[in-house]
Amino acid sequence: MDMSDRIGEFVFFDYEPGEADMASEVIEGLSGQPKQISPKYFYDQRGSELFEAITELEEYYVTRTELGLFETHLDEVATLLGDDLCVVEYGSGSSLKIRKLLEAVTPDAYVPIDISQEHLKANAERLYEDYPWLRVYPVCADFSQPLVLPAITNGLRKVGFFPGSSIGNFEPAAARRFLANVHTELGSGSALLIGVDRKKPVEILTDAYNDTKGVTAEFNLNVLLHLNDRLRATFDVQQFDHDARYNENEGCIQMFLRSRTDQVVEVNGQEVRFDADEELHTENSYKFHPEEFRAIASEAGFKQTRQWSDAKDWFALFLLEAI
Ligand code: AVJ
Repeated sequence: MDMSDRIGEFVFFDYEPGEADMASEVIEGLSGQPKQISPKYFYDQRGSELFEAITELEEYYVTRTELGLFETHLDEVATLLGDDLCVVEYGSGSSLKIRKLLEAVTPDAYVPIDISQEHLKANAERLYEDYPWLRVYPVCADFSQPLVLPAITNGLRKVGFFPGSSIGNFEPAAARRFLANVHTELGSGSALLIGVDRKKPVEILTDAYNDTKGVTAEFNLNVLLHLNDRLRATFDVQQFDHDARYNENEGCIQMFLRSRTDQVVEVNGQEVRFDADEELHTENSYKFHPEEFRAIASEAGFKQTRQWSDAKDWFALFLLEAI
């Protein structure tokens, strides 16, 4: 393509959290009882690759089911949304999903927001190459914190995009706060297209997070390698086991790394002690009845435009409007 054909542009906005922010947040989580770490730290280069591999697993119905809903309903989404749009993606994940959305909706601009600079840049550049008509403004930031969209997108109606049931990583109160932040960032009159995993028989859920190939286990353990890398930590992944189980009370799958022995690990120069069998809580993945999710969205100022589910009622796609 001749560069003069381009009407798009590419500008990178960098608010990547510093190493000091990561260190203090991680140390705080490892000092608590029970020990925990935010699932956002899964996604270094290797973690993102492992997550892609999870999405292709037989047991992991989530991605396949959501893509099926896209196949059937994105044309209607496009009609409902209209023109002069800016798609804002919270977490630059599977490029397949965003491609389907961009092709159906053909927005003027696209703002991917992601904490991992490398991943974000690579994905955004590839999209910019493949869609020369698109203005691409990647924002490197922690989207779980309030942020301000680049002013260059002023004047376009915002369409938030949060697929994959990533909303399930937040505790219900945090999900409400996150959606309220999204409401502020996108503005009244904007739209939000969000994928939500539904409650279903427990065995289907536990199988999805305990795959027979062990990819989810490797994904879970990789968070320790990420800490070794970024915070000069000394975790030995051989000394931890993956576990994922459904918490009926909370309505979520919970993932843990269980210490095989008594051990002391260094993280950013500080010693962290693990007892044998002590667990590090690495992720919650909440599942929702559609009405539970609607209530949370409503408290954050969103009203439902449409809701679509698959034939098995395993996954729901919501189109919401910011009031
Ligand atoms: C990306 C948060 C939606 O919770 O299903 C997959 C992450 N963890 N297998 C999920 C995940 C283990 C995934 N989300």
